[in-house]
This record gives sequence, structure tokens and C-alpha cells, in this order.
Amino acid sequence: MTALPGLVKQRRMTGTVPHRQDIETFAKQLRAGDIVAFPTETVYGLGADATNTDAVLRIYETKGRPRFNPLIVHVADLEMARRYVAFSPLAQMLATAFWPGPLTLVLPAMAGSGLSDIVTAGLDTVGVRVPAHPLALELIRAAGVPLAAPSANPSGRLSPTTAAQVIAGFEGRVPVLDGGPCEAGVESTILSIDGETVTQLRAGALARGDIEAVLGRPVAIAGEGAGIVAPGMMASHYAPNALLRLDAESAEAGEVYLGFGANDGALNLSPSGDLREAARNLFAMLHQLDGTAARIAVAPIPRTGLGEAINDRLQRAAAPRPATGS
Ligand code: TXA
Ligand code: MG
Repeated sequence: MTALPGLVKQRRMTGTVPHRQDIETFAKQLRAGDIVAFPTETVYGLGADATNTDAVLRIYETKGRPRFNPLIVHVADLEMARRYVAFSPLAQMLATAFWPGPLTLVLPAMAGSGLSDIVTAGLDTVGVRVPAHPLALELIRAAGVPLAAPSANPSGRLSPTTAAQVIAGFEGRVPVLDGGPCEAGVESTILSIDGETVTQLRAGALARGDIEAVLGRPVAIAGEGAGIVAPGMMASHYAPNALLRLDAESAEAGEVYLGFGANDGALNLSPSGDLREAARNLFAMLHQLDGTAARIAVAPIPRTGLGEAINDRLQRAAAPRPATGS
């Protein structure tokens, strides 16, 4: 890619989005096969033209990501998604209910769609989503191509929820479209749809209960009796440098405490015990505490609603190293 050291399009002081011109510049870079980081409602993505194999390979190189881990394809709307994947009535119902939003649907790939094979890592399915962030949607529309984008962090490290974290993670080697802090703070929920079977491959920012409410029946969970697992869902993932101790009621010697609710600490994911707030703060607070102590003790987080995704990310962050995830 063309090196653009430290280039950040700063959010204007007025709180308005970057200039039309900035979006055009980034879109042009994407069309030229460069990679750029952009904001979504979940975390920042490291984007490339999903139809350009060389561009997609730059994502893997930049992240140091294992090749077999497929990437999510970001599109501007359902109509654009139809060029790349086949929608059953069930898939369409879920897309209509939750897009734009933090839901990735793994659906059968359309033959001859032009998507790079590298994006799917050789699978005959594609994970697609329409992000609920105005800058992401503008960027996709301006580029005119679907964007393959994993989280914009070096492989195995914490997902970034601010432009500054992206800059720091890649040491200024990747241009970043700054859209301010991410609203959700954890990645999208991933569902595989196979016939009438809906399986959650990854818990995420869309709570399973919300999906089940639309579906009118339970969603199977990968690894818990459901036959499939998502490739690349390695145990160690989202790892800070510090070691993590989970479900801790208080800090021990040498630990810094990340609180939740009444369990207060150096930082508190949500003093009021709000899981949405905790999800939004999760990666940012782990980033903040990392380096202040050798070990981070984390308060117990309920496993209901968004707590499922929060506990999933914490367990991966606490898993034995080395990390080889995304
Ligand atoms: O919120 C998000 O989803 C963020 C933002 C940037 O959109 N993206 C993200 O991408 O988290 P990534 O690459 O870190 O995670 C993608 C995961 C892979 O680990 C893989 O498990 C699953 O999506 N995946 C992608 N395509 C798949 C497929 N065809 N079949 C099964 N799983 C797939
Ligand atoms: Mg990731």
C-alpha cells in the first residue's frame, strides 16, 4: 500500500463527520487496491476492496493474520449484498430486521460474483453485513466496491474502538477515517443460516435474545451441540499484554481491577451495571489498563444479553497465549 504515515482525518470539533473530500480520498485509495481503516458501529475495520485479491492479501499481511481465517464483507445495503450471496426468505427476514446493524450473516456465495477467493478462505459461504455507521456506508458507496474488513488490530490483539488505537496498533502505517469512538464496542454477532437452521457462530453486539424475538424460536450456538464452528474462532484472541483473571471479586497483589456495577476498581465497565455501556467500554478500558500492571482482574459480568459477547471476548483475552486470532 502507499504509505501515509499517521494520516488521520480528524473528526471536526463541531462533531460533524469528515468532509466529503476525505471520503473521496479514502474511496480512491480503496479502488487503487490500498487498505484503509474505517469506523463501524462495532469496532474499527481494516478495509480493502473485496474483489481485489492483492488488496485483500494486504489485510492479512498488515494484521499478520492466518490465511485460513475468512473475512467479513461489508456492503451498503441488501441490494448490494445480493450480488455476492444468496438470500433465503429466512435470511432476508433477518437482514431486513437488523440491517444496517451489528449482524453478520454467513450465506451461500454467488458463483462468479467477483469476490476474491481469499476473502472466504476457500469456503463456499460468505459472511456479509451492512454496518450502521454513516461514514462506513458513505465510504462503501463512494468506493463502489464491497469492503472486506476484519477488526483493525494486529492479529490476536485487542480490537480498536477509536482511531487513535488503530494508529498505535499499526504504528501509523495505515490511514484511518476517524469517526469518533465506536458505539457498540464489540464485534458483530455472526449467524450461519443453512436451510431453516440458524446457528450463532460468534456472540456479538446484537443480543441473541433480540434475534430470537424476531425469529420466534431459539438460535443454536456453535460448539454447544450445533455441528459447526466458525473457522478462526481460536481460543486465544483479543489479547492485551497483561494476563487476565476473570470473575474476580477483588484485586490481589500485583493486579489492577476492572470493575462492573458495585464491584468498583481502577476503572469500571459500567458503574450502573448496564451491559451495553460495558460492551462499549470493554476494549478501550482493557487498552487503558494494559501496561499499568502485570495482571488485570476483571469483575464478574452477568452472562445475559450482551453479557454473552462480553464474557466471550474476556475468555478469549484470558486464554493461553500465543494468540493467532484476528
Ligand atoms: O463487527 C465486526 O464484525 C467487525 C467490523 C470491522 O465489521 N469485523 C470483524 O471481523 O470482527 P473479523 O475478521 O475480526 O471476524 C470475522 C470472523 C472470522 O473470525 C470468522 O470466524 C467469521 O467471521 N467468518 C467470516 N466469514 C465466514 C464464513 N464464510 N463462514 C464462517 N465464519 C465466517
Ligand atoms: Mg478481530
